[in-house]
Amino acid sequence: MWEYTKKVRDLFLHPKNVGEIENPDAVGEVGSIICGDALKLTLRVDKDTGIIVDAKFQTFGCASAIASSSALTELVKGKTLDEALKISNKDIADFLGGLPEEKMHCSVMGQEALTAAIADYRGEAPAREPGERVVCKCFEVTEEKIRKVIIENRLTTVEEVTNYTKAGGGCGTCIPDIQAILKSIWALKPLPEKPKKPGRLTNLQKIALIQDVIEREIRPRLQADNGDIDLIDVEGPRVIVALRAMCVGCPMGGITIKGIEEKLRELVSSDIIVEAKTE
Ligand code: FES
Repeated sequence: MWEYTKKVRDLFLHPKNVGEIENPDAVGEVGSIICGDALKLTLRVDKDTGIIVDAKFQTFGCASAIASSSALTELVKGKTLDEALKISNKDIADFLGGLPEEKMHCSVMGQEALTAAIADYRGEAPAREPGERVVCKCFEVTEEKIRKVIIENRLTTVEEVTNYTKAGGGCGTCIPDIQAILKSIWALKPLPEKPKKPGRLTNLQKIALIQDVIEREIRPRLQADNGDIDLIDVEGPRVIVALRAMCVGCPMGGITIKGIEEKLRELVSSDIIVEAKTE
């Protein structure tokens, strides 16, 4: 029997914002009934301000899925789309006063639906690109999703990955792949104890995580604007980078560095200070 917080029980028994907005401005659908959980999020967005003025959900899932979806709709209302994009699955779980570890995948599903809805509003490509590698065929979980969830939640074991994504929770044939992904991210063997706080990352883990965030989150965005970046060094909280290509001498360089710092603080450690190497 799962141990649910009072907030989860309340939102399960009396969920808020259930249903579907008529002619919504944005729709985000994730999961599938075959896989056991599905969520449809609809949003009304004020086109002048970009603020989410209404949000509703329909879900097929357990008490945690209903409570997480309801929490999500409460969290996004009144936020701009950019602010909403910063909501993490952890924010959803925190809003609920926590979720059982085995049910964290419900908070991940909520965050995914939100990302999908905002991409839909902006006319962007769906989160899952055609041809993306599916690691877990039982639950249709892609490598990209597994990597994102591992990094954002600092997961270190296959069991945790299963709790957060369901990957590995069926036939188990994908478990070696999940282990390989964990190893490639943390670059350690055997896998370490889960760091409860970012401050507990070893230097090796921290450098590996910074490099991974740069490769996956930062470099693609810079390259989209014909720029680039290299990690030069990490000294305690200081992360020294070199901006490359069109980023060199760009008058927006200071803002770029600030954005990189924010992303690394969000995904690696809250005390990070990013400095650009001048050459
Ligand atoms: S392929 Fe992942 S559990 Fe079956």
